[in-house]
Amino acid sequence: MNRNCTYILEVLLQNNNRFLSGAYLSSQLGISRAAVWKHIRTLRQNGYEITAKPNCGYILKGQPDLLQKDLFTDQNIFYYETIDSTNLKCRFLAEDNAAEYSTVIAEKQLQGRGRLGRNWFSPSYSGLWFSMLLRPQKISPEDISAVTLVTSATIAEILNHLYNLPVKVKWPNDLMIGDKKTGGILTEIKAEPDWIEYLVVGVGININQRKTDFPKELAHQATSLAIEGNRDLDRTNLFLELRQELIKAYQTFLNNGFASFRELWRKHNLTLGKKVTVTRHRESFRGYARDLDEKGALLIQDNQNKLHSINYGEIRHEV
Ligand code: BTN
Repeated sequence: MNRNCTYILEVLLQNNNRFLSGAYLSSQLGISRAAVWKHIRTLRQNGYEITAKPNCGYILKGQPDLLQKDLFTDQNIFYYETIDSTNLKCRFLAEDNAAEYSTVIAEKQLQGRGRLGRNWFSPSYSGLWFSMLLRPQKISPEDISAVTLVTSATIAEILNHLYNLPVKVKWPNDLMIGDKKTGGILTEIKAEPDWIEYLVVGVGININQRKTDFPKELAHQATSLAIEGNRDLDRTNLFLELRQELIKAYQTFLNNGFASFRELWRKHNLTLGKKVTVTRHRESFRGYARDLDEKGALLIQDNQNKLHSINYGEIRHEV
């Protein structure tokens, strides 16, 4: 937002629920009324609810629910209003020797990334979009998929506990309420065959979106915590709580391995016992999801009763 926008916003805020004429704003700023209108449009795009009425002018009706960045006292939390992708930024920080647990959080992502090269819809002021940098020393690249499971099980536990919402995990890391997705995790890794340089764990959770906020193609498959719980939630506190608990969970995982999370994941999972279609590369097969092994791989029993251990790929639940 430029200086004129900021000025208009300040006057609207001071004007305390009264209309402010376009003529007044244009004379104060020495710009045309069309230019004033352009700034009003920019403010609206930034989440300010401004009503325009002929012969009256403009009135401020609502403000965006910004994250309270002054509560981000940890100097390793990097806040952005708009960013391409928090995962991407976190990878740049990693290359720049950023400390473990450095976390990038943004109000809005322009190129939010999902698993398997998909886009992740990340509109302003309504979700949590953040990525955390990890530098595990003691685990090998093949054990890394467990970090994602630790993350998803921990988040499901917190959301169940804090809001009493029935958030479940569809293997490996879709956060679901009923048959709709409310969040996901994208873990990216830089590694040698036997050594991990860093991991970026990206978390996206739909928090305060309304049904009408989702684009048509997502409407039938996405939901938010506010839709399901019938109330808006405080994103700042939720973020701080999640970050703290995810760091603790990761440290427990480093010390004790996946075993201590297997039960938690089982408790919140939506997949075990279901008939599923597994797709890896371009092949797919059907079977029953029987269990999670001690390293976090999903065990699928096929039609010939053979067990397959799956630690990447995509599954679809059959109805
Ligand atoms: C999925 O496909 O389920 C994973 C979605 C992960 C989205 C999050 S939002 C914050 C972080 N930055 C990204 O670009 N993606 C992840």
